[in-house]
Amino acid sequence: MPINYDSEKKIFKLDSAASSYVFEIFDEGYLVHLYYGAYIPDNNVGMFRDKGMFVSESPCNFKIGEGSFSPDVTPLEFSGEGSGDFRNSCIAVRNADGNNVTDMRYVSHKIYPGKPSLKGMPALFVTDPSQADTLEVTVRDSVTGIEAVLYYTVFNDCGAMARGVKVINPTDKTVYLERIMSCCVDYDTHDYDLITLYGKWSKERSVERSPLAHLTQGISSKRGSSSHHHNPFAALVDREANEDYGSAYGFNLVYSGNFVFDAEVEPFGGVRTVMGINPEGFEWTLEPGGEFVAPEAVTVYSNEGIGGMSRVFHKLYSKHLIRSKWAHVKRPLLINNWEATGMDFTGDQLVTFAERAKELGIDMLVMDDGWFGNRDSDKTALGDWFVNENKLGGPLGDFVKRINDLGIKFGIWFEPEMVSRDSDLYRAHPDWCIHVPGREKSIARHQYVLDFSREDVRDYIYGLMRGIIAENNIAYVKWDCNRYLSEVGSAALPKERQKETFHRYVLGVYDVLGRLTSDFPDLLLEGCASGGGRYDPGMLYYEPQIWCSDNTDPIERLSIQFGTSLCYPASTMGAHVSDSRRAGYETKGNIALWGTFGYELDPNTFTPEEVEIVKNQVNEYHKYYALIHEGELYRLITPDKNHFRAAWMFVSEDKNSALVTSVVMRKQEENNFYLKLKGLDPEKYYVEDESGEVYSGALLMNAGLCLNKYGRMDGDSFKLYFRTL
Ligand code: DGJ
Repeated sequence: MPINYDSEKKIFKLDSAASSYVFEIFDEGYLVHLYYGAYIPDNNVGMFRDKGMFVSESPCNFKIGEGSFSPDVTPLEFSGEGSGDFRNSCIAVRNADGNNVTDMRYVSHKIYPGKPSLKGMPALFVTDPSQADTLEVTVRDSVTGIEAVLYYTVFNDCGAMARGVKVINPTDKTVYLERIMSCCVDYDTHDYDLITLYGKWSKERSVERSPLAHLTQGISSKRGSSSHHHNPFAALVDREANEDYGSAYGFNLVYSGNFVFDAEVEPFGGVRTVMGINPEGFEWTLEPGGEFVAPEAVTVYSNEGIGGMSRVFHKLYSKHLIRSKWAHVKRPLLINNWEATGMDFTGDQLVTFAERAKELGIDMLVMDDGWFGNRDSDKTALGDWFVNENKLGGPLGDFVKRINDLGIKFGIWFEPEMVSRDSDLYRAHPDWCIHVPGREKSIARHQYVLDFSREDVRDYIYGLMRGIIAENNIAYVKWDCNRYLSEVGSAALPKERQKETFHRYVLGVYDVLGRLTSDFPDLLLEGCASGGGRYDPGMLYYEPQIWCSDNTDPIERLSIQFGTSLCYPASTMGAHVSDSRRAGYETKGNIALWGTFGYELDPNTFTPEEVEIVKNQVNEYHKYYALIHEGELYRLITPDKNHFRAAWMFVSEDKNSALVTSVVMRKQEENNFYLKLKGLDPEKYYVEDESGEVYSGALLMNAGLCLNKYGRMDGDSFKLYFRTL
């Protein structure tokens, strides 16, 4: 059994495919953390540990060894607030007496096969109970009576755990949840580097690595969405860990709103990591009988370095996160008109896009922003989801039919959560947006945010979307979101619940996404938020792909895609060939292939030579689709300032085929260029497709290939495809 409870020692041991996680029920019901790391067969981890842990000035529990135990210096599973542990707490509940002292101790537990889902929220799932096992531990504050259930799910096919918390108020008094972390892991050393993904618009998910120091180092968002600025991902890795070697612990929150991750190094040398909803701006009223379900956190452990950690995340998300049927069904190859036309297009013009797309072998045309209301600039019409028939030359149904008659599928853009200041919707319902009465609302991109915490607002917007999708033959929706939340309040909530607005807003977004995906299970959804501003597992649960960035310059894309790949699989990365100037179409295609692949340009501008390049790329899209979408990623050369070229490869799960890509970012004289491959079977022999040369996996990985004949100028690139004999 992957989860074992040793009732004599009172120790829980949770084993996933490659990791073990161990904690015990200590005296007085403290849940003491013992171990997280590479798989170990036994549970004697705490054998030589002092029974009590004590520091004279730290508050003690006198019931344990006459005051020899202090929670302040003990690794704990779910530490409370103001009860002797001064580190970041996991929970703070303001009680009916007005203080927020919270002290949660063990009450009971149960272990069962499978994994529970979270009502109304995204979460990892299993398709068969045999794929995972779950431990539920109930803890209680003996003074206030507030309870929490801690969920731990281990997956049998991935070295990963899902963690969650439900807080329950079984008392007859109203209390206020001020802080709730979804997961906490205490380590006994801080000999780690912290890796995070920071960014901004057009430069999302850059990798930052820094050693842990005697500080609290962390990332967060209070922008209302997970944001461009910090992805809700963090990793603790051995100081010497690289792509292939060392321990790597990855954390990711299945949530699309305000979040926090903190790594707090304590004076005694350990580090506490916590991840959950950002407590800033958050509070939740728990009436008698009320419950609060925190978003799920995912932890991954790999002793095969950062690359190993990424591959676990990729497999986990492909199998256990992305709900859409498109997770494993081949997706149509699309062309989007945004970069070519902006909002200045006509139906006839888009039909010419579709005609040329057909000749090139492209499957779907996506009509981006500008098809509704009087949306001729970003100043107007968001919320007025009525087709602009003048622009399209007639009803949407007729236009879609013209596209479909060419043998091309049709996709459309929405920005459901927003309303333009200049829109009929805003004029009719100014109170439908997020706002604080009497305070001026900040504007961004000339728009406000609709109050999706309100069911009436959601019903109205979804009613319009649903009508358009149901009445027309729409195969794909791009769900965009182009601003953050400010002056946050809801006209529909009483004053004591105003700080619930942020979270209720996120739940509202999930509600509409849930309705959309269950009403239209065949619809392909692509997420987007000013490029990749909401690239998180919460969104991936509903949307199998997310537009990575508005930056489609191929060289810039390298670092964005490398960073994104730390946690998220290639099948999720919206990546298109565009008209951007740097590098030719071949290189642009080679880089976009490391993603969903598609085009973002006017296909009528291609020269005859470019037409041939594109036709070839379309063939390659089909040829390599399964390898890229289902295969394992190995990052070979990182596109950082120490390198002048980048390289990566995909290897099929059976190790029978591999695709290697390399791109020159900056020209530089080099001697012989050898590229050592990874992830192959050393015993197998592989033929390289283009040259017909045969190499052993051992040669390719140890000696490497001398690749001098491939270009060395800025923007040059090559691909090599290998398959076993
Ligand atoms: C931002 C997106 O990232 C773009 O791709 C495009 O859809 C625009 N919004 C449309 O306004």
